Amino acid sequence: MKLRNGNEIPDIGFGTWKTPNDEIALKAVQCAIDCGYRHIDGAYIYKNEEMIGKAIRNCGIKREELFITNKVWNSQRGYQSTLQALDRSLETMGLDYFDLYLIHWPANSLMYENPVEVNRQTWQAMIDAYKQGKVKAIGVSNFRIHHLEQIMDMEIIPMVNQIKYHPGLLQKEVVDYCKENDILVEAYSPLARSALLDNDIINELAQKYHKTPSQICLRYIYQNDILPLPKSVTPSRIQENINIFDFEIGKADMDRLDALKVDYELQDPDTMER
Ligand SMILES: NC(=O)c1ccc[n+]([C@@H]2O[C@H](COP(=O)([O-])OP(=O)(O)OC[C@H]3O[C@@H](n4cnc5c(N)ncnc54)[C@H](OP(=O)(O)O)[C@@H]3O)[C@@H](O)[C@H]2O)c1
Repeated sequence: MKLRNGNEIPDIGFGTWKTPNDEIALKAVQCAIDCGYRHIDGAYIYKNEEMIGKAIRNCGIKREELFITNKVWNSQRGYQSTLQALDRSLETMGLDYFDLYLIHWPANSLMYENPVEVNRQTWQAMIDAYKQGKVKAIGVSNFRIHHLEQIMDMEIIPMVNQIKYHPGLLQKEVVDYCKENDILVEAYSPLARSALLDNDIINELAQKYHKTPSQICLRYIYQNDILPLPKSVTPSRIQENINIFDFEIGKADMDRLDALKVDYELQDPDTMER
Protein backbone atom coordinates (compact mmCIF):
# COMPACT_ATOMS: atom_id res chain seq x y z
CA MET A 1 0.00 0.00 0.00
CA LYS A 2 1.05 3.63 -0.37
CA LEU A 3 0.96 6.46 2.12
CA ARG A 4 -0.09 9.97 1.10
CA ASN A 5 3.58 11.07 1.13
CA GLY A 6 4.38 8.40 -1.49
CA ASN A 7 6.16 6.00 0.89
CA GLU A 8 5.32 2.33 0.56
CA ILE A 9 4.00 0.38 3.54
CA PRO A 10 3.84 -3.44 3.53
CA ASP A 11 0.26 -4.74 3.19
CA ILE A 12 0.17 -6.53 6.53
CA GLY A 13 1.83 -5.66 9.84
CA PHE A 14 2.90 -7.80 12.76
CA GLY A 15 1.36 -6.75 16.12
CA THR A 16 3.38 -6.82 19.34
CA TRP A 17 1.02 -5.71 22.11
CA LYS A 18 1.21 -8.13 25.06
CA THR A 19 4.29 -9.81 23.61
CA PRO A 20 6.59 -10.26 26.62
CA ASN A 21 9.92 -8.39 26.67
CA ASP A 22 12.03 -11.57 26.63
CA GLU A 23 12.94 -14.58 24.45
CA ILE A 24 9.32 -14.75 23.34
CA ALA A 25 9.62 -11.38 21.59
CA LEU A 26 12.89 -12.41 19.94
CA LYS A 27 11.41 -15.65 18.65
CA ALA A 28 8.09 -14.13 17.56
CA VAL A 29 9.72 -11.35 15.51
CA GLN A 30 12.26 -13.73 13.96
CA CYS A 31 9.47 -16.12 13.07
CA ALA A 32 7.47 -13.27 11.54
CA ILE A 33 10.46 -12.18 9.44
CA ASP A 34 11.07 -15.77 8.32
CA CYS A 35 7.40 -16.02 7.29
CA GLY A 36 7.72 -12.85 5.21
CA TYR A 37 6.42 -10.01 7.38
CA ARG A 38 8.39 -6.81 6.87
CA HIS A 39 6.23 -4.50 8.94
CA ILE A 40 6.28 -4.52 12.75
CA ASP A 41 3.83 -2.54 14.86
CA GLY A 42 5.16 -1.48 18.26
CA ALA A 43 4.66 1.17 20.92
CA TYR A 44 6.37 2.60 23.98
CA ILE A 45 3.51 1.41 26.20
CA TYR A 46 3.88 -2.24 25.10
CA LYS A 47 6.95 -2.29 27.38
CA ASN A 48 8.85 -4.56 25.02
CA GLU A 49 10.79 -2.07 22.90
CA GLU A 50 14.11 -3.44 24.09
CA MET A 51 13.56 -7.01 22.87
CA ILE A 52 11.54 -6.07 19.80
CA GLY A 53 14.38 -3.70 18.87
CA LYS A 54 16.97 -6.41 19.43
CA ALA A 55 15.00 -8.84 17.29
CA ILE A 56 14.75 -6.28 14.50
CA ARG A 57 18.46 -5.49 14.62
CA ASN A 58 19.43 -9.17 14.53
CA CYS A 59 16.84 -10.50 12.09
CA GLY A 60 19.16 -10.63 9.09
CA ILE A 61 17.08 -8.29 6.94
CA LYS A 62 18.42 -4.86 5.99
CA ARG A 63 16.86 -2.03 7.96
CA GLU A 64 15.64 -0.29 4.79
CA GLU A 65 13.63 -3.38 3.86
CA LEU A 66 11.73 -3.23 7.13
CA PHE A 67 8.87 -0.96 8.14
CA ILE A 68 8.84 -0.19 11.86
CA THR A 69 6.05 1.68 13.64
CA ASN A 70 6.14 3.16 17.13
CA LYS A 71 3.70 5.37 19.09
CA VAL A 72 3.96 8.22 21.56
CA TRP A 73 2.09 7.33 24.74
CA ASN A 74 -0.49 9.46 26.58
CA SER A 75 1.88 10.48 29.38
CA GLN A 76 4.30 11.79 26.73
CA ARG A 77 1.94 14.24 24.99
CA GLY A 78 2.94 17.84 24.31
CA TYR A 79 5.60 19.35 22.05
CA GLN A 80 8.83 18.84 23.95
CA SER A 81 7.93 15.59 25.63
CA THR A 82 6.83 14.00 22.35
CA LEU A 83 10.24 14.77 20.84
CA GLN A 84 11.92 13.36 23.96
CA ALA A 85 9.72 10.26 23.83
CA LEU A 86 10.69 9.65 20.23
CA ASP A 87 14.41 9.90 21.01
CA ARG A 88 13.96 7.60 23.97
CA SER A 89 12.08 4.95 21.98
CA LEU A 90 14.66 5.06 19.18
CA GLU A 91 17.43 4.64 21.72
CA THR A 92 15.71 1.78 23.57
CA MET A 93 15.13 -0.05 20.30
CA GLY A 94 18.62 0.73 18.99
CA LEU A 95 17.26 2.24 15.77
CA ASP A 96 18.07 5.46 13.86
CA TYR A 97 14.55 6.16 12.62
CA PHE A 98 10.98 4.85 12.59
CA ASP A 99 9.09 4.34 9.35
CA LEU A 100 5.92 5.50 11.04
CA TYR A 101 5.32 7.31 14.33
CA LEU A 102 1.79 7.66 15.71
CA ILE A 103 0.02 9.59 18.46
CA HIS A 104 -1.38 6.60 20.39
CA TRP A 105 -4.58 8.29 21.68
CA PRO A 106 -6.00 11.80 21.36
CA ALA A 107 -6.05 14.02 24.45
CA ASN A 108 -9.50 14.65 25.99
CA SER A 109 -11.18 17.16 28.28
CA LEU A 110 -11.22 14.79 31.27
CA MET A 111 -7.44 14.95 31.34
CA TYR A 112 -6.67 18.45 30.04
CA GLU A 113 -8.17 21.91 30.27
CA ASN A 114 -7.42 22.47 26.59
CA PRO A 115 -7.14 19.08 24.87
CA VAL A 116 -7.26 20.63 21.39
CA GLU A 117 -4.12 22.62 22.14
CA VAL A 118 -2.42 19.49 23.53
CA ASN A 119 -3.27 17.53 20.39
CA ARG A 120 -2.00 20.37 18.19
CA GLN A 121 1.26 20.67 20.11
CA THR A 122 1.81 16.92 20.00
CA TRP A 123 1.08 16.93 16.28
CA GLN A 124 3.49 19.86 15.72
CA ALA A 125 6.21 17.75 17.33
CA MET A 126 5.34 14.91 14.95
CA ILE A 127 5.63 17.28 11.98
CA ASP A 128 9.00 18.54 13.17
CA ALA A 129 10.31 15.02 13.80
CA TYR A 130 9.20 14.11 10.26
CA LYS A 131 10.98 17.12 8.79
CA GLN A 132 14.13 16.19 10.70
CA GLY A 133 13.99 12.68 9.18
CA LYS A 134 13.73 10.84 12.50
CA VAL A 135 10.46 9.37 11.26
CA LYS A 136 9.61 8.66 7.63
CA ALA A 137 5.85 9.05 8.07
CA ILE A 138 3.51 10.30 10.79
CA GLY A 139 -0.02 9.52 11.86
CA VAL A 140 -2.46 9.04 14.68
CA SER A 141 -4.33 6.23 16.38
CA ASN A 142 -7.78 6.02 17.92
CA PHE A 143 -8.68 9.41 16.43
CA ARG A 144 -12.34 10.05 15.60
CA ILE A 145 -13.40 12.66 13.05
CA HIS A 146 -13.53 15.53 15.56
CA HIS A 147 -9.99 14.73 16.75
CA LEU A 148 -8.69 14.63 13.19
CA GLU A 149 -10.37 17.95 12.46
CA GLN A 150 -8.40 19.55 15.28
CA ILE A 151 -5.20 19.16 13.23
CA MET A 152 -6.34 19.06 9.61
CA ASP A 153 -5.41 22.73 9.04
CA MET A 154 -1.78 22.13 10.06
CA GLU A 155 1.16 22.02 7.67
CA ILE A 156 1.12 18.23 7.29
CA ILE A 157 -1.93 16.05 7.89
CA PRO A 158 -1.82 12.49 9.25
CA MET A 159 -0.81 9.78 6.80
CA VAL A 160 -2.31 6.97 8.90
CA ASN A 161 -5.08 6.45 11.46
CA GLN A 162 -4.71 3.16 13.33
CA ILE A 163 -8.07 2.12 14.81
CA LYS A 164 -9.83 -0.95 16.15
CA TYR A 165 -11.42 -2.63 13.13
CA HIS A 166 -12.64 -6.13 12.41
CA PRO A 167 -15.70 -7.86 10.91
CA GLY A 168 -18.60 -6.56 12.97
CA LEU A 169 -16.74 -3.39 14.04
CA LEU A 170 -16.35 -1.21 10.96
CA GLN A 171 -16.25 2.34 12.39
CA LYS A 172 -17.70 3.47 9.07
CA GLU A 173 -17.81 7.23 9.70
CA VAL A 174 -14.17 7.64 10.60
CA VAL A 175 -13.07 5.15 7.92
CA ASP A 176 -14.98 7.07 5.22
CA TYR A 177 -13.51 10.36 6.45
CA CYS A 178 -9.98 8.92 6.33
CA LYS A 179 -10.48 7.52 2.83
CA GLU A 180 -11.83 10.88 1.59
CA ASN A 181 -8.72 12.56 2.96
CA ASP A 182 -6.25 9.93 1.74
CA ILE A 183 -5.37 8.83 5.27
CA LEU A 184 -4.56 5.11 5.34
CA VAL A 185 -6.56 3.16 7.93
CA GLU A 186 -4.76 0.41 9.84
CA ALA A 187 -6.83 -2.24 11.64
CA TYR A 188 -5.76 -3.16 15.15
CA SER A 189 -7.30 -6.15 16.94
CA PRO A 190 -8.26 -7.48 13.46
CA LEU A 191 -9.26 -10.82 15.02
CA ALA A 192 -11.08 -9.09 17.89
CA ARG A 193 -8.31 -10.61 20.02
CA SER A 194 -9.44 -14.03 18.72
CA ALA A 195 -13.08 -13.57 19.85
CA LEU A 196 -14.22 -13.73 16.20
CA LEU A 197 -12.65 -17.06 15.43
CA ASP A 198 -15.58 -19.19 16.56
CA ASN A 199 -18.20 -17.09 14.76
CA ASP A 200 -20.50 -19.32 12.67
CA ILE A 201 -20.52 -17.24 9.49
CA ILE A 202 -16.76 -16.75 9.54
CA ASN A 203 -16.30 -20.50 10.02
CA GLU A 204 -18.70 -21.26 7.18
CA LEU A 205 -16.72 -18.97 4.87
CA ALA A 206 -13.45 -20.48 6.06
CA GLN A 207 -14.70 -23.90 4.95
CA LYS A 208 -15.95 -22.55 1.64
CA TYR A 209 -12.61 -20.89 0.76
CA HIS A 210 -10.46 -23.65 2.31
CA LYS A 211 -8.96 -21.06 4.65
CA THR A 212 -9.00 -20.50 8.40
CA PRO A 213 -11.34 -18.12 10.28
CA SER A 214 -8.39 -15.83 10.99
CA GLN A 215 -7.50 -15.66 7.29
CA ILE A 216 -11.11 -14.78 6.42
CA CYS A 217 -11.04 -11.86 8.90
CA LEU A 218 -7.69 -10.56 7.66
CA ARG A 219 -8.53 -10.95 3.97
CA TYR A 220 -11.86 -9.18 4.49
CA ILE A 221 -10.03 -6.23 6.07
CA TYR A 222 -7.46 -6.15 3.28
CA GLN A 223 -10.16 -6.23 0.58
CA ASN A 224 -11.64 -3.15 2.27
CA ASP A 225 -8.31 -1.37 1.58
CA ILE A 226 -7.46 -1.40 5.26
CA LEU A 227 -4.14 -2.65 6.56
CA PRO A 228 -4.46 -5.50 9.09
CA LEU A 229 -2.12 -5.80 12.09
CA PRO A 230 -2.57 -9.31 13.56
CA LYS A 231 -0.57 -10.24 16.65
CA SER A 232 0.61 -13.69 17.63
CA VAL A 233 3.53 -15.30 19.42
CA THR A 234 2.61 -18.75 18.07
CA PRO A 235 4.67 -19.81 15.01
CA SER A 236 1.83 -21.66 13.24
CA ARG A 237 -0.50 -18.69 13.69
CA ILE A 238 2.15 -16.17 12.62
CA GLN A 239 2.49 -18.16 9.37
CA GLU A 240 -1.27 -18.63 8.99
CA ASN A 241 -1.98 -14.91 9.39
CA ILE A 242 0.23 -13.82 6.49
CA ASN A 243 -1.17 -16.38 4.04
CA ILE A 244 -4.03 -14.19 2.87
CA PHE A 245 -2.79 -13.06 -0.53
CA ASP A 246 -3.67 -16.15 -2.57
CA PHE A 247 -7.47 -15.99 -2.54
CA GLU A 248 -10.30 -13.54 -2.89
CA ILE A 249 -13.57 -13.34 -0.98
CA GLY A 250 -16.46 -12.94 -3.45
CA LYS A 251 -18.79 -9.93 -3.42
CA ALA A 252 -21.77 -11.75 -1.89
CA ASP A 253 -19.61 -13.08 0.93
CA MET A 254 -18.06 -9.64 1.51
CA ASP A 255 -21.64 -8.35 1.83
CA ARG A 256 -22.41 -11.03 4.43
CA LEU A 257 -19.33 -10.03 6.39
CA ASP A 258 -20.29 -6.35 6.09
CA ALA A 259 -23.59 -7.20 7.74
CA LEU A 260 -22.10 -9.34 10.50
CA LYS A 261 -23.35 -8.53 13.99
CA VAL A 262 -20.97 -9.36 16.83
CA ASP A 263 -20.44 -8.15 20.36
CA TYR A 264 -17.43 -5.90 20.54
CA GLU A 265 -15.61 -3.60 22.92
CA LEU A 266 -14.64 -0.12 21.82
CA GLN A 267 -12.93 2.35 24.12
CA ASP A 268 -14.24 5.92 23.71
CA PRO A 269 -11.15 8.16 23.52
CA ASP A 270 -13.10 11.03 25.08
CA THR A 271 -13.90 9.14 28.28
CA MET A 272 -10.49 7.57 28.89
CA GLU A 273 -8.81 8.79 32.04
CA ARG A 274 -5.24 8.08 31.07
N1 LIG B 1 -3.23 1.60 18.53
C1 LIG B 1 -3.81 0.96 19.52
O1 LIG B 1 -4.41 1.56 20.43
C2 LIG B 1 -3.74 -0.52 19.54
C3 LIG B 1 -4.56 -1.25 20.45
C4 LIG B 1 -4.50 -2.64 20.42
C5 LIG B 1 -3.65 -3.28 19.52
N2 LIG B 1 -2.84 -2.56 18.68
C6 LIG B 1 -1.90 -3.23 17.73
O2 LIG B 1 -2.62 -4.18 16.94
C7 LIG B 1 -2.06 -5.49 17.16
C8 LIG B 1 -3.11 -6.57 17.06
O3 LIG B 1 -4.17 -6.35 17.96
P1 LIG B 1 -4.42 -7.29 19.23
O4 LIG B 1 -3.13 -7.82 19.69
O5 LIG B 1 -5.26 -6.50 20.18
O6 LIG B 1 -5.40 -8.42 18.71
P2 LIG B 1 -5.53 -9.51 17.54
O7 LIG B 1 -4.37 -9.47 16.60
O8 LIG B 1 -6.91 -9.34 17.02
O9 LIG B 1 -5.51 -10.87 18.37
C9 LIG B 1 -4.39 -11.35 19.03
C10 LIG B 1 -4.80 -12.60 19.80
O10 LIG B 1 -5.30 -13.60 18.89
C11 LIG B 1 -4.51 -14.78 18.97
N3 LIG B 1 -4.30 -15.23 17.58
C12 LIG B 1 -3.57 -14.62 16.63
N4 LIG B 1 -3.63 -15.29 15.47
C13 LIG B 1 -4.43 -16.34 15.69
C14 LIG B 1 -4.85 -17.41 14.87
N5 LIG B 1 -4.47 -17.50 13.60
N6 LIG B 1 -5.68 -18.35 15.42
C15 LIG B 1 -6.07 -18.26 16.71
N7 LIG B 1 -5.69 -17.26 17.54
C16 LIG B 1 -4.87 -16.31 17.03
C17 LIG B 1 -3.21 -14.37 19.65
O11 LIG B 1 -2.71 -15.44 20.43
P3 LIG B 1 -1.14 -15.84 20.55
O12 LIG B 1 -0.32 -14.58 20.52
O13 LIG B 1 -1.10 -16.53 21.88
O14 LIG B 1 -0.85 -16.75 19.40
C18 LIG B 1 -3.68 -13.23 20.56
O15 LIG B 1 -4.22 -13.75 21.75
C19 LIG B 1 -1.44 -5.34 18.56
O16 LIG B 1 -0.55 -6.40 18.87
C20 LIG B 1 -0.80 -3.99 18.45
O17 LIG B 1 0.38 -4.05 17.69
C21 LIG B 1 -2.89 -1.19 18.68
